[in-house]
Amino acid sequence: MHLGERLRAGDVVLLTGELGAGKTTYVRGVAQGAGSKAPVASPTFQLVRLYPGRVQLAHIDLYRVENSSELRDLGLEELAQQGAVVVEWGERLAVDDAARIEFEHLGGDRRLIRTIRDLSHR
Ligand SMILES: Nc1ncnc2c1ncn2[C@@H]1O[C@H](COP(=O)(O)OP(=O)(O)OP(=O)(O)O)[C@@H](O)[C@H]1O
Ligand SMILES: [Mg+2]
Repeated sequence: MHLGERLRAGDVVLLTGELGAGKTTYVRGVAQGAGSKAPVASPTFQLVRLYPGRVQLAHIDLYRVENSSELRDLGLEELAQQGAVVVEWGERLAVDDAARIEFEHLGGDRRLIRTIRDLSHR
């Protein structure tokens, strides 16, 4: 089953991979799987976007986050209580039990997407 369909409140999914590797595009599929019909845009200038669905999905992009106080101000714990959380540039966060997916740009329209750590439940 697709990741988005398996998401539950409390799940945190960290996405890693260089610029243009396909993270936002992947979140579009995750949001659909989580039952959201909201359009998924890059939250680069917004830090957090919320997509209501079967489970709320919080979409975080840490690209422009520069220091640990901004990371604390995200309210990650609260977002994870309300629903699932997916994080672009997730290497900037340390979260126990988080799932991790790695994206690699292989040139042109080719992308390598690897699950480094799956959700801790089935
Ligand atoms: N799986 C894929 N196969 C082919 N092309 C893809 C795939 N995923 C994304 N792309 C294309 O790659 C480009 C960048 O995608 P996307 O914005 O999702 O990357 P990103 O990792 O979120 O980038 P950023 O680091 O800027 O946030 C877009 O033009 C998108 O259409
Ligand atoms: Mg992006």
